[in-house]
Amino acid sequence: MKRRPQLGLKMQDQLLSLLIVLTVCAASLGAANVHGICTPKDLKGLTGFKAGIRLDTSGRLEKWVGLKCCEWEGISCNNATGRVAEIRLPGFISTSDFVYQSEMKGWLSPSITLLSSLEVIDLGGLMNLAGTIPPSIGFRLPKLRKLYLYGNQISGMLPESIGKLWQLEELLLYENKLSGSLPSSLGNLSNLNSMILYSNQLSGTVPNSFTNLTGLVHLDLHNNSFIGAIPEKIGQLHNMKELDLSNNFLGGRIPLSITNVTAISVLYLDTNNLEGEIPSPSRLDQMPSLSFLRLQNNQLTGEISPNFSYLISLQRVSLAHNRLKGEIPSSLGALSALTELYLDDNQLSGIIPKSMGQLSQLLVLSMSNNMIRGPLPQEMSSLYNLQIINLSFNEINFSSIPQWLLRLPSLSRIYMAGCGIQGEIPESLKIMPSPIQELDLSVNHLTGNLSSWLGTLTQLYLLNLSRNSLVSDVPESITQLNALGVLDLHSNKLTGNIGQVFKMEQRFPQGPLTYIDLSDNRFTEGIEQIGIGAQCGVQFLNLSNNFFPWRLPTTIRMCTSLQSLDLSNNNLGFNLKDF
Ligand SMILES: *[C@@H]1O[C@H](CO)[C@@H](O)[C@H](O)[C@H]1NC(C)=O
Ligand SMILES: *[C@@H]1O[C@H](CO)[C@@H](O)[C@H](O)[C@H]1NC(C)=O
Ligand SMILES: *[C@@H]1O[C@H](CO)[C@@H](O)[C@H](O)[C@H]1NC(C)=O
Ligand SMILES: *[C@@H]1O[C@H](CO)[C@@H](O)[C@H](O)[C@H]1NC(C)=O
Ligand SMILES: *[C@@H]1O[C@H](CO)[C@@H](O)[C@H](O)[C@H]1NC(C)=O
Ligand SMILES: *[C@@H]1O[C@H](CO)[C@@H](O)[C@H](O)[C@H]1NC(C)=O
Ligand SMILES: *[C@@H]1O[C@H](CO)[C@@H](O)[C@H](O)[C@H]1NC(C)=O
Ligand SMILES: *[C@@H]1O[C@H](CO)[C@@H](O)[C@H](O)[C@H]1NC(C)=O
Ligand SMILES: *[C@@H]1O[C@H](CO)[C@@H](O)[C@H](O)[C@H]1NC(C)=O
Ligand SMILES: *[C@@H]1O[C@H](CO)[C@@H](O)[C@H](O)[C@H]1NC(C)=O
Ligand SMILES: *[C@@H]1O[C@H](CO)[C@@H](O)[C@H](O)[C@H]1NC(C)=O
Repeated sequence: MKRRPQLGLKMQDQLLSLLIVLTVCAASLGAANVHGICTPKDLKGLTGFKAGIRLDTSGRLEKWVGLKCCEWEGISCNNATGRVAEIRLPGFISTSDFVYQSEMKGWLSPSITLLSSLEVIDLGGLMNLAGTIPPSIGFRLPKLRKLYLYGNQISGMLPESIGKLWQLEELLLYENKLSGSLPSSLGNLSNLNSMILYSNQLSGTVPNSFTNLTGLVHLDLHNNSFIGAIPEKIGQLHNMKELDLSNNFLGGRIPLSITNVTAISVLYLDTNNLEGEIPSPSRLDQMPSLSFLRLQNNQLTGEISPNFSYLISLQRVSLAHNRLKGEIPSSLGALSALTELYLDDNQLSGIIPKSMGQLSQLLVLSMSNNMIRGPLPQEMSSLYNLQIINLSFNEINFSSIPQWLLRLPSLSRIYMAGCGIQGEIPESLKIMPSPIQELDLSVNHLTGNLSSWLGTLTQLYLLNLSRNSLVSDVPESITQLNALGVLDLHSNKLTGNIGQVFKMEQRFPQGPLTYIDLSDNRFTEGIEQIGIGAQCGVQFLNLSNNFFPWRLPTTIRMCTSLQSLDLSNNNLGFNLKDF
């Protein structure tokens, strides 16, 4: 760092007027700025900006003194003209020595538009920078290429004049408080490659003029309040790689032209009101790179077309929570890169095709709440990477869980609620190659005891055996379930003492167990164990509809995390005033 001369205030003023004269002379000679002194307009623009900021935790602005603004931190000038070309003061500062999240509190001064040669404004992530985008921005900053104001408190509308910034390449305004509709003049920005406006309060329609933004690579408008249809000619944006319009109120059909967006790899249209059929390609070369597809939480209808399998790059797909009908096409077995498939909450029927066994990369298969019939094809025994399977609430009617399924080498989360499973809890659960972590066998016809070998499932985090016909006591071995976080045994015929469940908490006072539902059983004892000598972490506790005869112990006050407690329909004679 060069040593700055310490000037008296008065002398600085005199120097300023002298320099204005000098600058004017220099400009008239067509030369660069003399001795690195900035033009009065640039100085005024920058000091005006600084004056709008009440707090700068990075300390960068307090070092903005003197007249050589090109040397100020965060400022770069054009070497030929000496004019300020870049302001880069991002909130997140990362050097080789440290990383630091700084904050600026104050207003974005419109004087920034005096910096008429600006090419880059990076004031992103300053957290408390408020104000609006100056309405004159498009007239005053014709050279602007990058506008980053993300992660601030900027409010108001996007000014119409922004469509005149014809050199603009990147518009990053996400995570602000922008409102109003998008000016259709944005469609004039033919050099734009990224428009990222997510998490604002923008409304209105996505302008049809956007289909002229043929250079666009990344368009992200998610989590706003956009309405209307997706522009019909969206397929013209054939350079687009990522399109995210999720979490809005968009309606109508997904335009068929989307299949012409050759470069697309990420397409998120989930959580809207989209209807009609899923457009599927009719050739292998349509959307050949599409890897991530999210269409969940819409009102899509029709069938999953066999042509869906032309999307050979698909890795993660969610079509859940729609109104899709028909069978799962067996051509899906050709999607060899598929790792996650979510089809939950539709009206899919038929059987799971044998070809699903070819999806060797599959980690998650989730198709709960459909009308899929059994049996499961044994070909699925080659899904070596499968970790999670969710077949809850279909018409599978297993009778018993296929043994080959419990031998899948990576499987550790099984959701098979309402699958017609009969008999005792299958003992082969304890010798699964990958120890079970989540087990939901609720709403089946399980009978017999809560087996004592349950205590050997030491990785178990979630156990849901509710709504079966299990009898017996809670085995002592349950205290060995170190990892248990969620225990739901409601609506069985379980009897005896529940003390073990709370003993477990005593052994692991900071343990993860946060959810306990033992309601609607025939338990009679153990309620006095709650909270004894331990700081219990339970948040949800339901002991209703049992036969607990004793007073609730005051030690329950130890359970300070408790958010929901239901003790109704017992023989409890406690007085609430004790608490
Ligand atoms: C200005 O010159 C410096 C050093 O000569 C160079 O590193 C920098 O890239 C130039 N900046 C511009 C905007 O041309
Ligand atoms: C910019 O867009 C507006 C609205 O879409 C249009 O009326 C205007 O002619 C366009 N201007 C230029 C210079 O293309
Ligand atoms: C959506 O945007 C709002 C601001 O408009 C923000 O508060 C919220 O956290 C965002 N939600 C998500 C899921 O990103
Ligand atoms: C796209 O640009 C062309 C030429 O500039 C213009 O005629 C047309 O109206 C624009 N389309 C939309 C939808 O704005
Ligand atoms: C897709 O592109 C082809 C060739 O450019 C064109 O003929 C076809 O009409 C487009 N399809 C849609 C639905 O826009
Ligand atoms: C599926 O692809 C074939 C060509 O392979 C095409 O003839 C047919 O129209 C496509 N079906 C749909 C629903 O797109
Ligand atoms: C599995 O399906 C059940 C029942 O529909 C659902 O509640 C649960 O969230 C799903 N779990 C996972 C991990 O997908
Ligand atoms: C399910 O299978 C069992 C035994 O295989 C049979 O008794 C029962 O009727 C079946 N239930 C339904 C709903 O198909
Ligand atoms: C356990 O399963 C039942 C029935 O499927 C469900 O209602 C309940 O929410 C599940 N419990 C937990 C903790 O997920
Ligand atoms: C089932 O539990 C009861 C009491 O809880 C016990 O008497 C019985 O021996 C158990 N049966 C089996 C097969 O473990
Ligand atoms: C507790 O369980 C009973 C019976 O299973 C149920 O009706 C009740 O809604 C549950 N209470 C809470 C607070 O979830």
